[in-house]
Amino acid sequence: MKRKKVLALAGAAVIVFLTGFSIFYVNQKEDEVIPDFVLTYAENQASDYPTTLGGAYFARLVNERTGGKVEIRIYDNSVLGDEVSVMKQIQYGGIDFARMSISTLADIVPSLYILEMPYLYRDSGHMWKVLDGEIGKQLMETMDNTDIVPLSWYDAGARSFYFREGPVETLEDLTGKKIRVPESALLIDLMSALGAVPVPLAFDKVYSALETGQIDGAENNWPSYDSMRHNEVAPYFVVDEHMRIPELQMMSRSTWDILPEEYQKVIVECARLSANYERSVWKERVDISRKRVIEEGCQEFLISDGEKQKFLAAVAPVYEKYCGDQMDLLQKIRNVQ
Ligand code: GCU
Repeated sequence: MKRKKVLALAGAAVIVFLTGFSIFYVNQKEDEVIPDFVLTYAENQASDYPTTLGGAYFARLVNERTGGKVEIRIYDNSVLGDEVSVMKQIQYGGIDFARMSISTLADIVPSLYILEMPYLYRDSGHMWKVLDGEIGKQLMETMDNTDIVPLSWYDAGARSFYFREGPVETLEDLTGKKIRVPESALLIDLMSALGAVPVPLAFDKVYSALETGQIDGAENNWPSYDSMRHNEVAPYFVVDEHMRIPELQMMSRSTWDILPEEYQKVIVECARLSANYERSVWKERVDISRKRVIEEGCQEFLISDGEKQKFLAAVAPVYEKYCGDQMDLLQKIRNVQ
């Protein structure tokens, strides 16, 4: 919850804890700064995950650059709820900041669907040129009249499939497989278009769904697969890199509106710096995660180019549904060099 923490406890506040026979006195230090704002930041990844580290870096910078007047507390590991509920809370101001996958956000801000279309980017460099350039900026501006203030794009690499019982290396073999997807309209349609049975589930429910056989597989990037320990229950990782879904670091507009302009500026600048930081951590983490899970027994498979063409052809209806009226922008994205 957002709390404007105006503490009237100036001077030497003494808190006494009684623990057995011991008495501890905790004095407020004379030079301690009392924050004007204590704000919440929701993150659904673990504390050592690149996006969480990016968030922590952001919080530290903001604190330093506001002379301790703005304190941002990171709540990781989905403790404030899954992405869908965090999204709602961001919208009404119950949570101040979040880092979120575009897959969740695009259902609220449909202009963002285009950024997560399957097989859209040639590679990571292509995606970053799009996001860092005019198109990324314009798409952020489409959120101007929403309850969300976009701050910066974060990296989430490329997503591939993984399975419990053996690799699925052809489109045909994917038919009828129950595959977990984020709670996202586009991902649900995508999985249906590929012939699989989409099972929308929150991120923190995937491990047990794999373990119990509620689903046959899921899809994500190497760091998420490793961090959530999905390799323990779905050890067949099939690299097809069907999607790059950027993440957005964002703020609730109702919190933004009550902040003085000088703090708003600091937040924007620190978000930008934290995104650079997150991207560098991300690059390292992809290799670390891949290596770790392979050492632990994960088997890696590659989809052939011929098969990839079949996947690409199968997703044509998804393009039609989500970007049918944005073919010009789609072409612009493809043309970015
Ligand atoms: C990625 C992303 C998460 C998202 C997850 C998912 O790991 O970083 O924010 O929730 O994908 O598949 O749900």
